[in-house]
Amino acid sequence: MILSVFCTLCLLVGSTRAASGWSYSGSTGPAFWKDVSATCDAQRQSPINLYEGDAVQNPFTPFTFTNYDATSGFNATLKNNGYGVKVDYSGATELTMQGGGFTDTFKVAQFHFHWGRTSVQGSEHLISSQAFPMELHIVHYNSKYSDLGEALKHADGVAVLGFMYEVSASDNANYADLVNNLSNVQSQGSKIDLAGFALNTLLQNSFSNFFRYDGSLTTPDCQEVVTWTVFKDSIKISESQMEKFRNVMDGNGNAIVDNFRPPMPLNQRVVQSSFTTGITWGYASNVANAGSASKWSEYYGHCVDDAGSKQSPIDIDPTTVYLDKSINTFTMSGYDSAQGVNMQLKNNGHTVQVDITAGDIRMSGGGLPGEFKAAQFHFHWGSDSTKGSEHLIDSAAYPMEVHIVHHHIQYPTLTDAVAQSDGLAVLGTMFEISKEDNPALDPIISKLTDISDPKTSTSMDTVRLDTFLPADITEFYRYSGSLTTPGCYESVTWTVFRKSIPISEAQLAKFRALLSADKNAAGTYTKMVNNYRPTMNRNNRRIVATFLIGYGERVTYSAVSLTFCMLLAAVQRLM
Ligand SMILES: *[C@@H]1O[C@H](CO)[C@@H](O)[C@H](O)[C@H]1NC(C)=O
Ligand SMILES: *[C@@H]1O[C@H](CO)[C@@H](O)[C@H](O)[C@H]1NC(C)=O
Repeated sequence: MILSVFCTLCLLVGSTRAASGWSYSGSTGPAFWKDVSATCDAQRQSPINLYEGDAVQNPFTPFTFTNYDATSGFNATLKNNGYGVKVDYSGATELTMQGGGFTDTFKVAQFHFHWGRTSVQGSEHLISSQAFPMELHIVHYNSKYSDLGEALKHADGVAVLGFMYEVSASDNANYADLVNNLSNVQSQGSKIDLAGFALNTLLQNSFSNFFRYDGSLTTPDCQEVVTWTVFKDSIKISESQMEKFRNVMDGNGNAIVDNFRPPMPLNQRVVQSSFTTGITWGYASNVANAGSASKWSEYYGHCVDDAGSKQSPIDIDPTTVYLDKSINTFTMSGYDSAQGVNMQLKNNGHTVQVDITAGDIRMSGGGLPGEFKAAQFHFHWGSDSTKGSEHLIDSAAYPMEVHIVHHHIQYPTLTDAVAQSDGLAVLGTMFEISKEDNPALDPIISKLTDISDPKTSTSMDTVRLDTFLPADITEFYRYSGSLTTPGCYESVTWTVFRKSIPISEAQLAKFRALLSADKNAAGTYTKMVNNYRPTMNRNNRRIVATFLIGYGERVTYSAVSLTFCMLLAAVQRLM
């Protein structure tokens, strides 16, 4: 009943909207463009946030531009189309683009701008979450098609070059003619020929640093036919020149501002970069760019902890855990033997990691989605023993947590598995302080002085992997999550054991004496401590436990869930 009223309303609103076209705000704004064209809601939309940490470097062929410097033989017509200003090209002399990884030749059809109300916004693309005051799009169509209209029907039809702007104190003299001509196109529908105008005067001189991905037009009908090139280096423009753009008016006589579409989801796409983005991450706030875990999400798209994400670690709240007695025990092979297993110990700048360089250590069962092979294990610890673990249990931290990282055997290596939704299974075990040293840790701890500097490694005697499992591996928490370091891929089936293993303060002190790749203000390496990510939102994820928490430990979480379910069922019956 309620449902049907709501849907009728939807249809009514929908039809009104379609009739009134589209805009950049309100009831005809970007969120409703899907009512104008369903493609606007498809999976490869533009613009996007170009996360530099995730970009895959690719050596592209250099760009070559022909007739970008021509001043005659064509008409360049500046127009106000009600959404902004664009310059349409026509005439015999064609401006063309080649190279930049393209095999085809592309012809310039038009260029246009997107800008903000103020200079903190305006660009359509973001670079590592940063917006720019304006973005220029030079729209090209593939020369194998007759015109832009035809090219829009083909996946390889369109190539757009995007350029960002940054505000400079003085005017950009190269923009004087264009900016002054904006006064001739103040009202919607007005236009003027730009005689003697050369496109290259608007651009910077270097075309070597850019991002590349497959996307769409950023206005309805949002056709997914665009190979995007977004240049890293921005073009300078003054605030007073920006103001001239902000004075251009739409059909209602209102200033056109904020004529940009917000970033769309990347989905399964990969962004390439023609250059080394050089993003570094760390745990300390003074690390360049992606330093401190709270900034990872600016540079690595999967590290974003929003309402729909499944990031790790989490605070495991026993009152919201579901008991699942159906989970069987783990089947583990090779954990209780050092035979045929080789290990390499390294300080990777963020943690102490032990790579399993030879040997076949596997687990299955335990409710895991398949069979998994151990690839490496590593540690997270605090500057003192009140903190250090990544997962919290009932909001309590432990001084250290070890993660044994496994990949699904259907993927040949950890690298192949890391971004696959079923790719990884990680076992997490907490450490608790013991008076005595834990002698089983000796093969690692005795070698830590050999890897005190970041990016160093050494051979070590093999340790049995069950050193890092608690005595009882039948009791654990299970949930779906992510890597706890960039790129934060949501590919991990997590197992966090209930019981801990021992380590002494003296042993922990050896870990705390190591140096990380994070540098302080003076440029020297800082101590490798507190290399844990803060807890992320659980959102609507289901966390299960294989055991019932006793009354002494935590009161009746299952009773709470059960009561809620019964209540819900009762309410549903009433409806
Ligand atoms: C430019 O447009 C004008 C009329 O608007 C026309 O007379 C002229 O031939 C055009 N020039 C080119 C090169 O197409
Ligand atoms: C418009 O641009 C042309 C060059 O194409 C230039 O000669 C002219 O002075 C500009 N108009 C204004 C009002 O600045």
